[in-house]
Amino acid sequence: MNQNETDDLITLRAPTSKDGAAAYKLIEQCPPLDTNSMYCNLLQSSHFSSTSVAAELDGKIVGFISAYLLPDNPQTLFIWQVAVGEEARGKGLASRMLKNILNRTATKSVTFIETTITPDNKASWALFESLAKKLDAPLNSTVMFERDAHFAGEHETEMLVKIGPFEL
Ligand SMILES: CC(C)(COP(=O)(O)OP(=O)(O)OC[C@H]1O[C@@H](n2cnc3c(N)ncnc32)[C@H](O)[C@@H]1OP(=O)(O)O)[C@@H](O)C(=O)NCCC(=O)NCCS
Repeated sequence: MNQNETDDLITLRAPTSKDGAAAYKLIEQCPPLDTNSMYCNLLQSSHFSSTSVAAELDGKIVGFISAYLLPDNPQTLFIWQVAVGEEARGKGLASRMLKNILNRTATKSVTFIETTITPDNKASWALFESLAKKLDAPLNSTVMFERDAHFAGEHETEMLVKIGPFEL
C-alpha cells in the first residue's frame, strides 16, 4: 500500500469516553507533551468532545487533539495538546485534525485560537505558524506560564500563542 492510500484510511472524528485511555497512551509516546492523568484524558474525550478530535487508523488512535472554548470567551478556541504518533507524522495529519475541529458547528463562532508552546518546540511552532497562514491571520506570542514564577522551576516556560482575528 502506498503512502497516500494509508493517509486516506485515517478517519477523523470527535472522541468519545472510550478513547480516553488510548489518548493517554498516545500522549505518553509523544514527548515533550506532559502526560496528565488518564482521568483527565477521559474528561477531554467526553466533556470537550465537540471541540477535540481523534484520528484512527485500523482501530488504533494515531492522533489526538484536546481543545475547548474558553469558559469566559467562547469565541476563543484553546488548543490544549496536539499529539501525532511517530509513524503518522510529516503527512499533514496535525493540520487536518485542526481543520476538522474548525469545520464543526461547535466552533462556527470562533474568531481566535490560543495555545501554549515551549520556546524550543520547533514542530509545534511550525504547525501553528502554518495554521495562521492558512487562516490569513496574525500570530502573536507572549509569556503565559513562566518557569520559576509558575512552574516552580520544574517546567520550561510556556508561550501563549494567539492567532486571529479570523473568519471561518
Ligand atoms: C507537532 C506534531 C503534532 C506535528 O504533527 P504532524 O502531523 O507531523 O504535522 P503536519 O504534518 O500537519 O505539519 C504541520 C506543519 O508543521 C511543519 N512541521 C511538522 N513537524 C515539523 C518538524 N519536526 N520540524 C519543522 N517543521 C515541522 C510541517 O512542515 C507543516 O508545515 P507546512 O504546513 O508549512 O507544510 C507532532 O510532531 C507531534 O505530535 N510531536 C510531539 C508532541 C508535540 O510536540 N505536540 C505539539 C505541542 S501541543
